[in-house]
Amino acid sequence: MKVLVIGSGGREHAICHKLMESESVSAVYCEPGSDAISEVATCEGIDPLDFVSLVSLVKREGIELTIVGPEAPLVAGIVDFFQENDLLIFGPTQKAAQIEGSKRFAKDLMKQYNIPTAAYETFTSIQDAKEYIASTKGPYVIKANGLAAGKGVVIADGEQEACQAVESMLSGSKFGEAGREIVIEAFLEGEEFSLMAFVNGTTVIPLEIAQDHKRVGEGDTGLNTGGMGAYSPVPQIPKSVVTQAVETIMKPVAEAMVKEGRSFTGILYGGLMLTKEGPKVIEFNARFGDPETQVVLPRLESDLGVVLKNILGGGHVELSWTKKTVVGIVLASLGYPEQYETGTAIEGLSEVKGDSYVFHSGTKKQNEEYVSSGGRVVVIGAKGEGVKEAREKALRSLSTIQNLTNFHYRKDIGYRAIMFDDSSLFEYTQTK
Ligand code: AMP
Ligand code: GLY
Repeated sequence: MKVLVIGSGGREHAICHKLMESESVSAVYCEPGSDAISEVATCEGIDPLDFVSLVSLVKREGIELTIVGPEAPLVAGIVDFFQENDLLIFGPTQKAAQIEGSKRFAKDLMKQYNIPTAAYETFTSIQDAKEYIASTKGPYVIKANGLAAGKGVVIADGEQEACQAVESMLSGSKFGEAGREIVIEAFLEGEEFSLMAFVNGTTVIPLEIAQDHKRVGEGDTGLNTGGMGAYSPVPQIPKSVVTQAVETIMKPVAEAMVKEGRSFTGILYGGLMLTKEGPKVIEFNARFGDPETQVVLPRLESDLGVVLKNILGGGHVELSWTKKTVVGIVLASLGYPEQYETGTAIEGLSEVKGDSYVFHSGTKKQNEEYVSSGGRVVVIGAKGEGVKEAREKALRSLSTIQNLTNFHYRKDIGYRAIMFDDSSLFEYTQTK
């Protein structure tokens, strides 16, 4: 079958790559795609929000299945539009995508259905939010209600910093309309992990878990980013905890969405925290995670085309995985997640080979050479026996880039797994 992937980043590059390996897939299209993606898929550069042009591409080329990468087209209703045109698409409808599109909706749903998450309040008034902050203890977790490219969260230790965040969000100066309503929630302590699942109504098929590194600096310091690297599997999260998360979080939320008349189809992403009281939800996304997908999909041994078609058709699905570890390191533009320049050549990139791979997040081709075109530029990943070996291989591949000083990256991706291996200091994993 022919498959269309919507999106243009490293996540979509990884999805296209996996589809190309699938025997069931004869051709991959990606819109808008990128120069790098066009090496594995056909790209015409159609805007992901131009549903009419996408539908005509699908009809013209006889594409059987469409997969949506980013959240914006989902929240804008791409799935509804394709379904109205009788086309097969893997992703949630606009109503179901609200689980990511509105933090308040997600929090209210979890409260109503007793799905474990941090306690919270929502605000539209600066005054009310400030009074609430004054009446509670920090650290304060302040979130823009709408979509903010993974950057709509401020964790403030002190009251003053919290009030500043509240003001910049609610006044609309920081995230525009997405920040006109905010959620302030309790700070969760523990070990974070990402659990994605293929979902169709009440059917929930979990993928292997990963751990993202959201902070810009080594040892998880500095500003939040879209993610500076990830690895899978995550040895410090026991299998029993993953099972518990599927039973107490992923399945109940899928069932809740059906009961609410918002049946969810697609990838449901749980950003979870293993606390002393067990796993709790930090956030839900309505799509594949980025950069988690770049380390989870390379571990999938099943034919992704067959898996998706069977999930949509209600058939039997079993996933098979390599036991090897994949570590992926994000190479970012200097200055990211704040202001950065683009157009920097990535010298020596084509040298990366063997057990390593490169997924392009923000690059374009200029005079036969890849140059940066975004904050996160590429993910360099490698497979190995365990986190240490995989990370060493990824770092070795990275070092073939000749002008690394023009970028920045974290050398410590996977450090929590290595600490765990070395000392078993993780009290949170002792819950079961
Ligand atoms: P989000 O965009 O909701 O995933 O939040 C970004 C990051 O902020 C998460 O990956 C966590 O590391 C952190 N975070 C968000 N909410 C909380 C919370 N309630 N407690 C502790 N950390 C949080
Ligand atoms: N890695 C987190 C996300 O995709 O939102």
